[in-house]
This record gives sequence, structure tokens and C-alpha cells, in this order.
Amino acid sequence: MEASRLYSPVLSVGRVISQDLIFRGQRLKTGDRVMFYTGLANFDPEVFDEPFRFIPGRKVKPLSFGAGMHMCIGMGIALNFASSFITNIYARGTIRNVNIISLAEGVSALGASHFSMEMNSNELVEN
Ligand code: HEM
Repeated sequence: MEASRLYSPVLSVGRVISQDLIFRGQRLKTGDRVMFYTGLANFDPEVFDEPFRFIPGRKVKPLSFGAGMHMCIGMGIALNFASSFITNIYARGTIRNVNIISLAEGVSALGASHFSMEMNSNELVEN
């Protein structure tokens, strides 16, 4: 969860205004489109102490998987996959020199589409 705060692949979520309103002095009309930069909110120092530090087990949850009624229904799958992947890799060896080679960039999402990594394999060392 803390890694998803620091490196969320989803950087913003969009909404369409359903009724005229004034939000923080800004007049918004029905039909206007707005984007919430959840990726930036995840670094809000008023919410997260020392936002640039990796501190697993924080009490406040980040917005990486959204919030409220549209919160990600795949969050459990994504977190489960990530933790299984890490457990599996660390059972086999140690990772070194992880490099992101290319980024898939979108308006609201960012992803490492190609990356390389070196690995010291426990099995090779034992053999
Ligand atoms: C690291 C992986 C993932 C991230 C960071 C992520 C992030 C998000 C975010 C931020 C939202 C909220 C969108 C909004 O408020 O407009 C969302 C919604 C959603 N996600 Fe994910 N997601 C991930 C993986 C998945 C997976 C694996 C699935 C399906 C198996 C999934 C299915 C959905 C669906 C269906 C919604 C829409 C829920 C709704 O509108 O009620 N996501 N996701």
C-alpha cells in the first residue's frame, strides 16, 4: 500500500459535475469536467508525515486506488499479486539495478512498460 502511494500508476481520476457548485472559490457548472490529481494528493504533507519517506503501515490510506463509491474493485487482486510477486522473487534471490527503460504515459496514468533488473540467484550461488 505504501509503495502504491509513492509510485501509483494511476495519477488522477476524472469526474463530470452533476450540479452547479462553488468549490474553493471556483464556480463549476453542470457538465464541466474536472480531474483530481490523486498522485499529488498522495504527497500532501498535511496528510502524510514525511511524505517522501517509505513508511509501511501508515494509518492514512493513499488515494492510489481511489476512494468512496468508485474505489477500485481490483485493489485486493493488485495488492495480492504484488506481494506474491515480491515474496516469490525474494525466495529465489536478490534484485539489483532495477532500471525503467520505457514509460507508458497517459493523461492520468503512468506505467513502467519495459524494465530491466539484475538478480543474484540463491540457486546459482548454492550450486
Ligand atoms: C495497481 C493496480 C491498480 C490501480 C493503481 C488501480 C487504480 C484504480 C483507481 C484510482 C480507481 C478509481 C477510479 C475513479 O475514481 O474514477 C479504480 C477503479 C476501478 N478499478 Fe482499479 N486499479 C488497479 C487494478 C485493478 C484491477 C486488477 C482491476 C480488475 C480486476 C481493477 C478494476 C477497477 C474497476 C472496475 C474500477 C471502477 C470502479 C467503479 O467505478 O465503481 N483495477 N482503479
